[in-house]
Amino acid sequence: MSDVQHILRKVSRPDPLPDVPRDCFAAVPRGAEEIAAAELGAMGIQGARAGRGGVSFSCDRSGLYRANLWLRCASRVLVQVGMFPCTGPEELYAGIYAIDWTLLITPDMTLAVDCNLRDSALKHSGFVALKTKDAVVDRIRAACGSRPSVNTAAPDVRINIHLLKNICTVSLDSSGDPLDRRGYRLERTEAPLRETLAAAVIALTGWNGSMPLADPMCGSGTIPIEAALLAGQVAPGLQRSFGFERWLDFDEKLWRRLVKEAENSVRKLPVGLVTGYDRDNRALKLAARNAVKAGFEGQIHFFHAELEAFQPEGENGVVIINPPYGKRLGEDDDLRELYCRIGDIMKKRCRGWTGYVLTGNLELAKYIGLKASRRFVLFNGPIECRLLKYELY
Ligand SMILES: C[S@@+](CC[C@H](N)C(=O)[O-])C[C@H]1O[C@@H](n2cnc3c(N)ncnc32)[C@H](O)[C@@H]1O
Repeated sequence: MSDVQHILRKVSRPDPLPDVPRDCFAAVPRGAEEIAAAELGAMGIQGARAGRGGVSFSCDRSGLYRANLWLRCASRVLVQVGMFPCTGPEELYAGIYAIDWTLLITPDMTLAVDCNLRDSALKHSGFVALKTKDAVVDRIRAACGSRPSVNTAAPDVRINIHLLKNICTVSLDSSGDPLDRRGYRLERTEAPLRETLAAAVIALTGWNGSMPLADPMCGSGTIPIEAALLAGQVAPGLQRSFGFERWLDFDEKLWRRLVKEAENSVRKLPVGLVTGYDRDNRALKLAARNAVKAGFEGQIHFFHAELEAFQPEGENGVVIINPPYGKRLGEDDDLRELYCRIGDIMKKRCRGWTGYVLTGNLELAKYIGLKASRRFVLFNGPIECRLLKYELY
């Protein structure tokens, strides 16, 4: 959208949207809800409540921008604009129509509707999305004489419908692209860990950059890069844009100030703080390129090495391993052997360190042969995973 278009939209708006605290929901991989609530608390957003698959909180515009810029574990931040009981199409249409969409969308803007439905009379998300879109455009056409169009790929406003037990919550998706798209991943390797999940894993280990972190199976480098972002106090959203930047109430001055603050907080990593290793050269090259894109040229060190050759430097630190676990890579007996070797290497080479293994295969995890001192449940999409902690004295 051009600047002129944006200004025109603003002046033609019937009413300014007041900057009052609004109910928000940050969607989070299951298992990482408490971490995301703590992240919001650290940003000064009080009262965040962790629930299943997300965190509810209330914040003003500045809080919303901060949450998008700084949340490491959340996949999107939704801002609630309506809520009503809904047991059928008429109620849905009336409930959506009752929201004053003219404050949020002008006829020259585009929109898309995402739906998730659970335990409700309305069962077809495609139908709910269509009905919602009809009510929105009808309301705007009635007030303005023309209607916005639909753009599912890159809409100005993404509407989110959450229908749970016949209660419909209507929100705007302030993030746009999911927050795991930080902007540093250049290509995909075979089984990259989602950035938000990698950030959750690092947070669960309690690592804060005060000691080394090593990933002996780093693949495309997601864990080392997320660790570097954390230790370097880099806002994970610094390299991307957000849905709220296209909204009518977008406060560019405020946004620029928050971005400037975030840029000023960045610090350089000490040498040897974060290292990654892998036997796959192609993945390593990609990891190195991703790290440069993320702003860590020469700061994260990647080594081409078989697990057998892995030897972390330093007396203590955190080693995080995300081995293949059969559901997406490998799927054969070799994996049992690999898990045995992971246990062996951790025991023999990582004395004084704390080891963590993230796997979606509990059967394979048994082959590590060490006693886990803690187990965290995390979901990688639909796959239930365990993050296992090993004290390697
Ligand atoms: C599930 S992937 C890790 C994905 C990574 N966390 C990411 O985000 O891209 C597992 C990685 O282990 C590596 N790997 C498998 N066996 C290995 C071995 N024996 N030694 C070193 N690396 C190995 C693979 O090359 C692969 O990159």
